[in-house]
Formats: sequence, structure tokens, C-alpha cells
Amino acid sequence: MSGDSTYVPKHPAAKWLESRLPILGLMHSSFVVFPNPRNLNYWWTFGGILAFLLVSQIATGVVLAMHYTANADLAFDSVEHIMRDVNFGWLLRYWHANGASMFFLGLYIHIFRGMYYGSYKAPREVLWLIGFLIYLLSMATAFMGYVLPWGQMSFWGATVITSLFSAIPLVGDAITTWLWGGYSVDNATLNRFFSLHYLLPFMIAGVVVLHIWALHVPGSNNPAGVEPKSEKDTLPFHPYFTVKDGFALTCFLVLYAWFVFYIPNYLGHADNYIVANPLQTPPHIVPEWYYLPFYAILRSIPSKLGGFLAMFGAVLILAVLPWLDTAKVKSAAYRPLFRIFFWIFVVDAVLLGYVGSQPPAGGAVLAGRVLTAYYFFHFLVILPLLSHFETTRPVPASISEAVLGEQADASPALAGH
Ligand code: HEM
Repeated sequence: MSGDSTYVPKHPAAKWLESRLPILGLMHSSFVVFPNPRNLNYWWTFGGILAFLLVSQIATGVVLAMHYTANADLAFDSVEHIMRDVNFGWLLRYWHANGASMFFLGLYIHIFRGMYYGSYKAPREVLWLIGFLIYLLSMATAFMGYVLPWGQMSFWGATVITSLFSAIPLVGDAITTWLWGGYSVDNATLNRFFSLHYLLPFMIAGVVVLHIWALHVPGSNNPAGVEPKSEKDTLPFHPYFTVKDGFALTCFLVLYAWFVFYIPNYLGHADNYIVANPLQTPPHIVPEWYYLPFYAILRSIPSKLGGFLAMFGAVLILAVLPWLDTAKVKSAAYRPLFRIFFWIFVVDAVLLGYVGSQPPAGGAVLAGRVLTAYYFFHFLVILPLLSHFETTRPVPASISEAVLGEQADASPALAGH
């Protein structure tokens, strides 16, 4: 599906450019007249919100980098210098640090939206895989970003996670030494993390372009999970979805600003305001909130290699989701059992996050194991079984019917579309 190529440049400069590089026409067909399903709800606004957040992170990050020093002896103080001396440095830093959390909040909503409405199913598997790649790159970027202030959590978080690679048989220690650039997390590690933390967001931006490209081939899925059949089922991107996305972004920015201006350190850890000290391990090392479910899975397996495999497996399993859930009906709206299991899975993931935030003792250990087992059970057993045995509800014949019911075809209001 593609937008009508109705773009005719009017201004002589636009004509001149268009005949040499037809980029204005591409923008017009992609973001002005592009037909979107008319029934998209607010869960479909998060892709646009994420695009905004990515640009915002890059913009604030580039300016922060002008004042930051990637040296183990100076990094911590350079961040304090940004907070105290640089004009609006506190705002730049808080906007960027909380922006990471907002980005993952948006990502998780975006991913769970896709899971609920079956957006990963044919013909959108490649779109899903590209999204998955973005998720991996984002996790790596945020992990390395958190090391840069060189506080206690930066140092010990980096040490715990990079040390995991040493569990790999035979080559594990060599890989860890290679990652560190030495025999412990130190100046060389900080330097390479800074370099990669600067580089990866631009790579993510490139992959996002592919993501949009892969989206524009089949077009968006929608809450009904049936593909548009005629022009009646779609509306042009502008003004309908530019306005809807703009409104959602504005609401999201209110939440974001509330964190930045009222509780800027709420999502951080107090220990990261203590300079990194390799001789003093904090009593309780915790990652940022968006890693907590995976951290719980890591700690639930009583072997280092097993924990390593389970943690990465829990992330990687998302990539094969289109081949685990092969049910023909996409939207959970018409899959009564899938819908129940979807919400149980959401609760499981949230509880895993809570367990990940707790010291690994007592009931938290058992809870972590049960929740981890269920996490994999959902993907490997429940979804394949549901694909074959679930009785789905009747799917509407078209998007218009899903929205308007039986009178869809008779409605004069639709005559124009
Ligand atoms: C920088 C991060 C990302 C950006 C900027 C982004 C952007 C977008 C945009 C603009 C859309 C269309 C609007 C919408 O459906 O919300 C979209 C759709 C989609 N994205 Fe992403 N995305 C990102 C990450 C991801 C991730 C991590 C995944 C999955 C692992 C993913 C999977 C999808 C899917 C399946 C769709 C199609 C949804 C549908 O049509 O129902 N995206 N994305």
C-alpha cells in the first residue's frame, strides 16, 4: 500500500529540487496522503512519540557531550559541573536521563500494543524483526549511557553485566577482558562505552527509517486486525493522524515534564551520586527499572551460565514471536483466551520487575523462579497451543464494519471516503 502520488510542486525551487531529488513527493506520499486505517486508537500514537523521543535524546545528548569528560578521574565531576555550572545543564541532564526512562516506557507500550493486536503477524514479520533490533540497540545504548556518570551504580552495574560473559565456556574470560579493554571495568571501558553510546543512537535512527519503510509496505495493522479493503477503511495521515499523534505527544510530554521538574531523581538510584569505588561493593546492586524483569530472570537460575542464557533467551524469544503464535486471527479483540493470557503475561512481566528490584532472598527467590518459568511457558507452550485450539470470535468483514456495524455500507457519512 502506498499513498497516491498526487504531489505537484508549485514553487519554482520545489520544482527544481523535485526534478533532481523527488524527496518532497516522498514525504508527501509517506506523511501527508498516506492512507491509515480509520479505526486506529491511541495505542497507535506511540510510534510517533518514540520518534520524537529519539530525536530529543540525540539533541540533548550531543550538547551534554560538549561538557562531559569521558575519563575515569574526571567523569563524575564533569557531570556535577554540568549540573551546577553549565547554563541549563541541569535541565539538559535531567531531560536526557528521564528521557531514557520515557523512551523505554514508550517502547514497552509500543511492543505490548503489537503483542495485543497481533501486529507481528504476516505480512508484518520483518517490521517486527526490525523493531526487535531497535529494542536490542536501545538496551545496549541505555546500558552504556548509565555507566557514563561513573557513580557507584554505573561502575557496579557495568561490572555485574559484563562479568556475565565470563560464564561462556572456554572463551568467556577472553571475551570479558576484550569488552573491558583491560582486567576490570576501568578508564578504557568508560571510553569505549562513551564512544558507542554516542554512535548507537544514530544507528537506531537509521534502523527506524527501515522500520517506517517496512511499515509502509503493508501499512498499519489496526484494532480490528483486518486489512483495509477499500478507500472507506482508511483516512489520510494528515490531518487525521498528525493531529491525533500531536495530541498524544502533548499529553505524554506533560508526564515527562512532571518527572523532569518535580521528581527528576525518582527513577535513578541514590548510590549513583557517590563516585565509583572499585574497592567498595554497594550492598544491593540494581539496574534501571526497564531491565528489572530480565535481571529477575538472570538471578532466578542458580547457575551463572544458566542465568546468562535465560536472561538473553528471554529477550531473544521476542524475535521469534511471529512463529510461535501462528493463529490466523490477529487482534485479541476476537481471541477471548489469548486476551486473558495476554493480561496474565503482562502481570507476570510486572511482577518479575518487582522481584528484580528486591534483594534475592526469601520469598523473592521462589517467586522469581515461578514467574520466570511462566514467562517461557507463555511463549513456548501457551501461544503455540492457542494458535491451534482456540475458538475465535467472528472477525468483521471490513474495518468500516468493525467501526460502524451492519450499516457500514449504507452510511452516507462515508460517501466521501
Ligand atoms: C526507536 C524506536 C521505535 C520507533 C521510533 C518506532 C516507530 C514506529 C512508528 C512511527 C510506527 C507506526 C505508528 C504506530 O504503529 O505506532 C511503528 C509501528 C510498529 N512498530 Fe515501531 N518503533 C520503534 C520500536 C519498535 C519496537 C522495539 C518494536 C517491536 C519489537 C516495534 C514494532 C512495531 C510494529 C509491529 C509496528 C506496526 C504496528 C501496527 O501497524 O499495528 N517498533 N513503529
